[in-house]
Amino acid sequence: MAILLLVSLVSCPVAGPRTKGPLRKAAVAHHITLGTAASALHLGESNYTRILVSEFAQLEPENEMKFARVHPERGRYDFRSADALVSLAETHGMAVRGHTLVWHRQIPQWVSAGKFSPAELSAILQDHITTVMQHYASRVYAWDVVNEAFNANGTMRSTIWYDQPGVGYAGMGTRYIEQALVWAHAADPKAKLFYNDYGAEVMNAKSDAIYAMAQDFKQRGVPLDGIGFQAHVDLAYETPEGLSSFAENLQRFASLGLELHITELDIRLRDGSPASLDAQAKLYGEIAKTCVQQPACKVLQTWGFTDKYSWIPRYYPGMDWALLWDSEYRKKPAYFGLLAALQGQRKIF
Ligand code: XIL
Repeated sequence: MAILLLVSLVSCPVAGPRTKGPLRKAAVAHHITLGTAASALHLGESNYTRILVSEFAQLEPENEMKFARVHPERGRYDFRSADALVSLAETHGMAVRGHTLVWHRQIPQWVSAGKFSPAELSAILQDHITTVMQHYASRVYAWDVVNEAFNANGTMRSTIWYDQPGVGYAGMGTRYIEQALVWAHAADPKAKLFYNDYGAEVMNAKSDAIYAMAQDFKQRGVPLDGIGFQAHVDLAYETPEGLSSFAENLQRFASLGLELHITELDIRLRDGSPASLDAQAKLYGEIAKTCVQQPACKVLQTWGFTDKYSWIPRYYPGMDWALLWDSEYRKKPAYFGLLAALQGQRKIF
C-alpha cells in the first residue's frame, strides 16, 4: 500500500484529480464549467500546470488545434502538441473544448498561397474538419466550428473560406457556415457545435447578425448547438448599460434554445495600479454573475490564466495585466473578484 502510494505520488508530480482549487469548486456549484485556454509550451513549468489542473475544470488549446498547427502540410496532420494537452486534461478530469476549425487566421501557407479553386478548397476544408474532429471524437465535447466570420457592422467577413475565393458559397451569406456545421455534425455527431466571435457580447450590429443566423439555423434544423462569446474586454465595458445589454443579449440567444459559452474572457488594462486591478476584479465578478444568472450559460472560460503568458501585450500595445494570476503566479484581485461572485450567488432554476 505504502509503495503504491509512493509510486502514484512520484508518477503524478502535479495536483491529482481530487485536489481541486476554490475557483473550480465554486463554479461547479452553479453548474458552470470554469475553463481556460492553455498552451503546451508551458506544461513543463510546475506552477503553470499545477494551477491549470487544480483551478480549472476545462481546457481549450490556445493555438494547438488551429489549422496551421494540426494540418501544416497537404495530407499531413500533426496532433502531437494538441494530444499532450488533451491527455493532461483527461488525467485531471477536465473537459476539453476544441478551437477552431474554420477561421481566416493561423492558416498554413500551403492553403493561403495555394491558389485553390472553390471546389478544391471545399474538399480541403471538409477533409480538415472530418479528420480533426474524428481524431478527437469522444474526447473533445464541443468545437468552435466557425470563428469570427462577421464584420462589426454585421456583414460577412471577406475570407478565404467565404469569398476569396470561398468554398463555393461566395455572396451567399451564412451558407458556408451552414455547410461547415453539416460537415462537422457528420464527422462527430455527438460533439456540440459552436459559432464563436468577439465583440458580440452586447446588443449591436454584429450580435444582431449572429442572432439572425442562429434563428435561421434553428428554424431549419442546421446543427448549431451554441454560441461562443469571446469577451476580450477592457474596463470601458463596466457600465450599467453595457452589463445589462450583455444580459439581454445572452437572453435572446438562450430563447433560441442555444447553449452559451463565454469562451475567451480577459480584461486588459492600461496599467497595473491597485485602482485598475480593483476595477478589473469588479468587472470579472460582474461578468461571472451575468453567466450565473443565465441558465443557458454553461461555460465561463478565460483566455489563459497568468499574465506571464497572455496574448494581450502583443496584440494590444500598451495594454496588459488581463488575467487572474500575475506574471509570478500570484493571485490577483481579479481572482478573488471572480471567486466571490461565484461563491456569493446561487442559480435559481
Ligand atoms: C490568439 C492566441 O492567444 C495567440 O497566442 C496567437 O498568437 C493568436 O491567437 N480570438 C481567438 C483566439 O479566437 O484564437 C486568439 O488567440 C485570440 C482572439
